[in-house]
Amino acid sequence: MIYAQIMAGGIGKRMGNVPLPKQFLMLGTKPIIIHTIEKFTLHEEFELIIVSVPTDWIPYTEEILNKYCIDDPRIRIISGGVERNDTLDNALKYIDQYSKINESDLLVTHDAVRPFVTRRIIEDNISALKYFDAVDSVIPAFDTIVEGKDREISAIPIRSLMYQGHTPQSFKISSLKESLSKLSVADRQELSDSAKIMLLDGKKVKMIDSEISNIKITTPYDLMIANAILENVH
Ligand code: CTP
Repeated sequence: MIYAQIMAGGIGKRMGNVPLPKQFLMLGTKPIIIHTIEKFTLHEEFELIIVSVPTDWIPYTEEILNKYCIDDPRIRIISGGVERNDTLDNALKYIDQYSKINESDLLVTHDAVRPFVTRRIIEDNISALKYFDAVDSVIPAFDTIVEGKDREISAIPIRSLMYQGHTPQSFKISSLKESLSKLSVADRQELSDSAKIMLLDGKKVKMIDSEISNIKITTPYDLMIANAILENVH
């Protein structure tokens, strides 16, 4: 079975002083998270669409799903976790209880705050899992990436080998669970990227093309850009 997880367990500190976690802020005529959930409900292959939100925001999420008439029976709203890995873990536990995991079960995880994910990106993620245990959606780095510490450059990697990681990130569930089970508590706190966890465990991670427009809304500036994208697309 193929499961989707919309990751909305964060509170959006970098968005500054806003009344709601950023995933619930309005983008055009509806909340950001509603745009994102709608993209996933268009895909019939998903068995469940798990929406992970902070526990206190579960009733509010139910309310807005009603308000915007999203009544797909595959949607399950569950609690996120303190760290992104905990949010992922909670979804894996939920899936475990829903049905016994087997080798062919897949999970497509996506940031709630990337509302412009496309049908093609989601399908490419699912297709690549036929041959790989993990998939990351990326765009080429356009700027030179500089590595440094204490305000001093330590390396300037070759730009043509650099990419920016987006989501979806997708996994064979059994393989992801195996890699997660090998992490120490300290590793778990440090390694927030699930594709990296699998890479460090020696598994091949396939890169598929994302789109420049698949932006992550992190700051008020990003929300402004997202509104501009929305106006030009629709
Ligand atoms: N996320 C999550 N569970 C967490 C932390 C983050 O599901 N414990 C989700 C966020 O809700 C978001 C996505 O992961 O949709 C991308 O993370 P990011 O943009 O860093 O979100 P926040 O953690 O909310 O932002 P900030 O770091 O500014 O607080």
